[in-house]
Amino acid sequence: MKKIIAFLLAAVLMCAAFTGCSGSDKKTEDSGNAAASGKTVADIKAAGKLVIATSPDFPPFEELKADGSVEGIEIDILNMICKELGVELEIQQMDFESVLPGVQAGKFDLGVSGITANEERKKNALFTDPYCLAAQAIVVTESGSIKSKADLKGKAVAVQTGTTAESFCMAEGYKVNSYAANSDAELSLVNGKVDAWVIDDLTAAEMVASYNESHDDKLVILSEAMTTEPYGFATKLGNDELIGEINKILKKLLDDGTIASVFEKFEAPYTKP
Ligand code: ARG
Repeated sequence: MKKIIAFLLAAVLMCAAFTGCSGSDKKTEDSGNAAASGKTVADIKAAGKLVIATSPDFPPFEELKADGSVEGIEIDILNMICKELGVELEIQQMDFESVLPGVQAGKFDLGVSGITANEERKKNALFTDPYCLAAQAIVVTESGSIKSKADLKGKAVAVQTGTTAESFCMAEGYKVNSYAANSDAELSLVNGKVDAWVIDDLTAAEMVASYNESHDDKLVILSEAMTTEPYGFATKLGNDELIGEINKILKKLLDDGTIASVFEKFEAPYTKP
């Protein structure tokens, strides 16, 4: 009897060991997928999906819904692009600061994250033609002391890490507090840790409106237009074929007014580049 129990125990242990092995094999396979880079349009069609990376904390461009899905202007535009290509859209969520390094490393097909296509970034990533223009905005509390950009001199501002807001505020010489998530940058203003929060104007409008709906100490956006931010989608340098194909689709959507109507659907003002 003892022998049978010992045998059964050994069998159970061996099973566990094998299951463990197959588990770790799977992990290696998964991380291998991330190496796919610079895919051609034919590769994407063969895979049946376009894989995009986004930081869904940027309404109305990309926003995480309660059911875990991502919605927004850019998601609508990408769904249209995918329809034209005849592929499915696959969305990978990450912090904004990981999107452009991932694009450079070819970890996904396209970075779609309200990304400003500026000259600095064009050295390391390939951008589509811009599809809209935005600007940086200053958000403050109504009860606070900052009433104009001039009052911000030497003051502390919150921004999202890796954004053009961050580089703009550093160049202006503000004390910059960077947060991985936009909502945390907003929170630091609300909690009085900083004097202002700098963020792209359309997202500022959306987030401020939803904050003000449920709070008494209102947030306000200062009406000082700063910077011009042309938004585009980014891919790995050298992937001109994919960008060329997407540019063709984008041009059609821009020319026939589809892009403008997507902004209208999300009740956002549209500035054509
Ligand atoms: N337009 C700015 C930039 O490119 C901010 C983008 C932030 N996007 C986001 N999904 N959180 O740096």
